[in-house]
Amino acid sequence: MKHADQLFLGLMSGTSMDGIDAAVLRFVDRRCDVVAAACIPYPDSVRHSLIAVRQDPGICTIDMLGKLDHEVGKCFADAADDVLSKNRIATEKIMAIGSHGQTLRHQPDSKPPFTLQIGDPSIIAARTGITVVADFRRGDMAVGGQGAPLAPAFHYWLFGHDNDNRVVLNIGGIANITALPASGPVTGFDTGPGNTLLDAWVRQHHNRDFDMDGSWASQGQASEKLLLALLQDPYFVESPPKSTGFEYFNLKWLERKIAESRVRPAKQDVQATLAELTCRSVAAAITLHAPGTTEVFVCGGGFYNRDLMRRLGQRLRGVNIKSTAAQGLDPDWVEAAAFAWLAKRRISGETGNLPSVTGASRPVSLGGIFTS
Ligand SMILES: Nc1ncnc2c1ncn2[C@@H]1O[C@H](COP(=O)(O)OP(=O)(O)O)[C@@H](O)[C@H]1O
Ligand SMILES: [Mg+2]
Repeated sequence: MKHADQLFLGLMSGTSMDGIDAAVLRFVDRRCDVVAAACIPYPDSVRHSLIAVRQDPGICTIDMLGKLDHEVGKCFADAADDVLSKNRIATEKIMAIGSHGQTLRHQPDSKPPFTLQIGDPSIIAARTGITVVADFRRGDMAVGGQGAPLAPAFHYWLFGHDNDNRVVLNIGGIANITALPASGPVTGFDTGPGNTLLDAWVRQHHNRDFDMDGSWASQGQASEKLLLALLQDPYFVESPPKSTGFEYFNLKWLERKIAESRVRPAKQDVQATLAELTCRSVAAAITLHAPGTTEVFVCGGGFYNRDLMRRLGQRLRGVNIKSTAAQGLDPDWVEAAAFAWLAKRRISGETGNLPSVTGASRPVSLGGIFTS
């Protein structure tokens, strides 16, 4: 098969648990073409179980974990089948699937550290008939890294530029930046919450999965006092490498901060404050750790939150903020593409982590290989 005919399939579901992103990609000459892609929602029962376990890990018995691992594996396999069959792509054309899995816990700083992604890769391989690369994060953690973020090597491959200081900003449940200076090492880390607190607050008060276009936040007035209290959290000032997750930034965290700061903002004002929190923490991270940035390429669902993007523009004046589509890759598929690309690296025996990003002691090849 010619190089250009080789396709890879990325499967990704982030902290938002909004659905499984499945993208079929072709990687040629530092270009990434999306051949087909879809976001396939979890069946309600699986999503509810995942949310329940994440909210209260104490309820998760070993039996429950095993069953969920199996169920999520089937959902990931279905997502792969769906995107292939609807687009009439033969399985033989797919060199490998890179499956990130669904994170249930990410505890890089616990002693000992661990990270747990579920979605049995053997089931994906058996049901699709395609080789699967999965369990990417633990390889990096095993050599002292945070296990996250792992997309920066791919960001460098696709967005790195000899003359421009660029940043890739992914606003998923958690937000992360990759700094791609014209010269010097690639760095990157989780800046803190992206959409996760915005989603949680709107879910609690309006029973909606997210605040469409940020319209509720745009009706509120950010509380400067609460915002300062939130920004004082030690995570924001900690030096990278660092990564975080839902187990840290969640409603309990927010409610504790509201109680401590003794402010009583209206509900829409809290939503506006959370939007400011995402933007200010991202902007501060870029200003401090990626000085001289001229271009920011945004991806992840947060790109569609118009209120959030407007606020970000106000915090990063003079910086050209655009979607990753400007570089030919739709913002919805960047993360899935990163794991497809990492699968390609794995099966060709190349390394996938960047020690300058994760803090690992050395570059390693990431993920296990599961053949069908
Ligand atoms: N039109 C929109 N308006 C506001 N927020 C949006 C919109 N579209 C997507 N989002 C946000 O993006 C999130 C999903 O982003 P995604 O990148 O898939 O995150 P993750 O990687 O955590 O799954 C949703 O939960 C929601 O907060
Ligand atoms: Mg998602």
